[in-house]
Amino acid sequence: TTTYDIELIPGDGIGPEVLDVALPLFQDVADDYGFEFDFTRRDWGTEYYLEHGEMMPEDGLAELADADSIFLGAVGHPEVPDHVTLHGLLLPIRKGFDQYVCKRPNVLFEGIESPLKGYGAGDIDFVVYRENTEGEYADIGGREHRGLGHETAVQSALFTRQGTERIVRAAFQAAAEREGHLTSVTKSNAQAHSMVFWDDIVEEVSEEYPGVTVERLLVDAASMDLIRRPHEFDVLVASNLFGDVLTDIGAQITGSMGLAPSGNIHPGEEYPSMFEPVHGSAPDIVGEGVANPLASVLSWSMLLEDVGEEAAADALWSAVIGQISDQSAPRTPDLGGDAGTEAVVEDLRSRL
Ligand code: NAD
Ligand code: IPM
Ligand code: MN
Repeated sequence: TTTYDIELIPGDGIGPEVLDVALPLFQDVADDYGFEFDFTRRDWGTEYYLEHGEMMPEDGLAELADADSIFLGAVGHPEVPDHVTLHGLLLPIRKGFDQYVCKRPNVLFEGIESPLKGYGAGDIDFVVYRENTEGEYADIGGREHRGLGHETAVQSALFTRQGTERIVRAAFQAAAEREGHLTSVTKSNAQAHSMVFWDDIVEEVSEEYPGVTVERLLVDAASMDLIRRPHEFDVLVASNLFGDVLTDIGAQITGSMGLAPSGNIHPGEEYPSMFEPVHGSAPDIVGEGVANPLASVLSWSMLLEDVGEEAAADALWSAVIGQISDQSAPRTPDLGGDAGTEAVVEDLRSRL
């Protein structure tokens, strides 16, 4: 039997809640489809930081490098500034393992009420391809003259030809395999260097995909149109920061942050990919046992698809669809119910 070596990084806040409670479900899927998981659990995160002064060991990435895949819960803690925790754990993995495709599907499932009037099951179904290693998240800049009247902070964005071409090409490829429509989201009216460069690359790569129609939107208009006409989107491609913002909108219009999955994908063989819910550590509900585990479960389905266990991936995805289309099934409060994390997972196990 095939054994997958999976690194688990539960992290902070509800991260451990949405991962640990769901592990028996993932084990069930492996049993049903005849493969095995070999889990390595890392206690990295903010508790670890408070004890050791770093979010993970110095050779942390090297420890993860041989894994078949990585699953991360969430990072972020009210007691330590976010730039410290995120730059200490989540972002170094995305960048260090060159996980340049951040794939975030947004689907309005049957049984979920969108906050958008008149939208029903299947009316919203798009995927965001977010650049995940450079752009506005490049750690370039500095802060000078702290506290003085002439204090400055510079935060530069980095767009390389290689980095831009590869995410744009991945998005075109996805569009070619879906409905054949790609929306490139930029801000080329204000950002005349990076975003015009991005537009040029979209133009170039589009020649390789004559069957894909290309639409260009400025990020402000795109934010509006995701609310106004979300049914018209198929694949969106955007820079790191814009993709981040668009995917929170995508999560909300398809029901809840608690439903949105994500993959940080390194398409080659060199490094492992990492899967995680789009949401964060949700300090406002931590410890209450009510975190929605479905974003995690769907992310696990993406992980299984990525390692080549497509039937198992489909089974998990279908179990979630079956559950939320069943009005009598348990739901967490973010979806209007009063069930806890565990009840949702137990119900899913019975549906596999
Ligand atoms: P958040 O996603 O943690 O929470 C936003 C809102 O959504 C909250 O009201 C929360 O209760 C709700 N929510 C999120 N996930 C939910 C779930 N599974 N079930 C039910 N409700 C859910 O975003 P935030 O409040 O802006 O950030 C909190 C912390 O998480 C910060 O430290 C932030 O930096 C960090 N963060 C981490 C990640 C990550 O690890 N990938 C992502 C986003 C934010
Ligand atoms: C996300 C998060 C992260 C991001 C933060 C926590 C650094 O918001 O995964 O969407 O901006 O990528
Ligand atoms: Mn985000």
